[in-house]
Amino acid sequence: MAEQGSKAFYLTTPIYYVNDAPHIGHAYTTTAGDVLTRWRRQRGEDVWFLTGVDEHGTKVQRAADEGGVTPQQWVDRLVADEWLPVLKTVDAANDDFIRTTDPRHAAAVQKFWEVVRDNGYVYAAPYAGPYCVGCEEFKLAGDLVAGSGEFEGQQLCPVHGRPVEQVEEDNWFFKLSAFADQLIAYYEANPETIQPVSAYNEVMSFLRQGLVDISMSRSSVSWGIPLPWDEKQVVYVWFDALLNYATAVGYGADPSSDLGQRFARTWPADVHLVGKDILRFHAVYWPAMLMAAGIDVPRKVFAHGWLLVGGEKMSKTKLTGIAPSAIIDHFGSDAFRYYFLRAIQFGQDGSFSWEDMSARYTAELANGLGNLASRATAMVNKYCEGLLPAAGELTSAEIGLRDQLAAVTTQADDAMVALDFSTGIVAVKTYIDAVNLYVTEQAPWVLAKDEANNERLHTVLNTICEALRGISVLYFPLMPKAMVSLWSQLGADVAIGPIAEQLISDVASWGQLPAGTVVTKGESLFPRLDDAA
Ligand code: MSP
Repeated sequence: MAEQGSKAFYLTTPIYYVNDAPHIGHAYTTTAGDVLTRWRRQRGEDVWFLTGVDEHGTKVQRAADEGGVTPQQWVDRLVADEWLPVLKTVDAANDDFIRTTDPRHAAAVQKFWEVVRDNGYVYAAPYAGPYCVGCEEFKLAGDLVAGSGEFEGQQLCPVHGRPVEQVEEDNWFFKLSAFADQLIAYYEANPETIQPVSAYNEVMSFLRQGLVDISMSRSSVSWGIPLPWDEKQVVYVWFDALLNYATAVGYGADPSSDLGQRFARTWPADVHLVGKDILRFHAVYWPAMLMAAGIDVPRKVFAHGWLLVGGEKMSKTKLTGIAPSAIIDHFGSDAFRYYFLRAIQFGQDGSFSWEDMSARYTAELANGLGNLASRATAMVNKYCEGLLPAAGELTSAEIGLRDQLAAVTTQADDAMVALDFSTGIVAVKTYIDAVNLYVTEQAPWVLAKDEANNERLHTVLNTICEALRGISVLYFPLMPKAMVSLWSQLGADVAIGPIAEQLISDVASWGQLPAGTVVTKGESLFPRLDDAA
């Protein structure tokens, strides 16, 4: 277990725009954050997991206008009907949920910008240039692509494939250019701060071209947080949104208050999980803002890839978004969590297909782990009246499985901590395959035919249940519902204690399930798809 001292492991997801309902691209980030934070908790660490929603800006304002309601009514309805429920749908165990319309946020945003202005990094100037409402971003000339077809002759945003809008207004600017050298020096000294390496390289090449100052306010937008020194302008939506990571944990609060103490316990953030499209905001603008205010910068920004549809980023704008419930109603939240972190290398793009998901569900979950669990619990019931038998002398086959559990635990831990989810998951899967092979080779159903083999039969059944004990803890952060069920079928909740209290560092200590533990054959962990709802 890593020594954390008084600092909690603090992880954030981006806060999602509430112009519409969530799709699986959003659920993907939240799921990854949830698996990692649950893993960290399972290491015995103090953890804080924040997610939330980004409610201001032109994009949300226009969606509300089109819906014929005020922006506040629009976001209140979508947050209540869609964004809070989706956390339950994917089974996220977040510690907090921030909304940028929360009073706790707005007041701290104003305070922050006062500090940056007092420090000399804010000045008034006119802005004229292209703006993408989809990205809510002032675009640089090199960011745009030439349109064709219906957009012939126009400049398009490469992420949204839509023409940008020309904006001309009097704004307040943030002196971003003052931080280029400081950021380069920081990232050269701490390359692990931006991951994966492709993201690091992208940020460094952007920084080396030099930075230009950027508008930090909007005068033509009203849906936002007013600047404390110029109430006719609101804070530019990204410079309001990024601050959620600090305001939610108590930036600006009295240090002796509960919230102020939370800031001391959590800051700086350990991991900001982001999609690759919003890397520049998190690895350039955000740390520059913090430097300007004299606050420590985050320890890591990890940029994951996109879920693609037809080779393009799944998006609401292109009407390609799949609702998480469309998949979860069919496969369950555990299989959803498993599939996206197992099948796509975190950091790279990936495509979702029903065929691939069904195939993996059947092979790896129903036939692999599910079948192992149901065979084990059924045999303890059939041959030992539902009581875990004691192991006799261990042969090399049992010692092999015992030692492999220790090796797999270390491999999985190293991979999960490095956000290499698929390697961590595959390490455990390899172990499940080995245990399934052991069952086939030892053939307990053959041993059971002759009483003379009783000791051997008991050793084999005990070994399978011990292996499953280890597997349940290792997979609990990934598939909490199924592993709670397996843990209780093994009788481990009564014999050992709640699964949530089991430490990764204890997984490999063999022989934790005492002989005589009541093993029950419960519901199938991963019902065959024909039988599933
Ligand atoms: N509101 C901003 C983030 C502010 S954070 C201070 C935003 N919101 S978003 O709703 O457009 O996107 C939120 C996250 O979802 C981003 O990390 C984005 O990359 C991710 N995804 C949106 N579509 C996605 C896919 N198709 N695939 C994977 N992730 C996707 O940007």
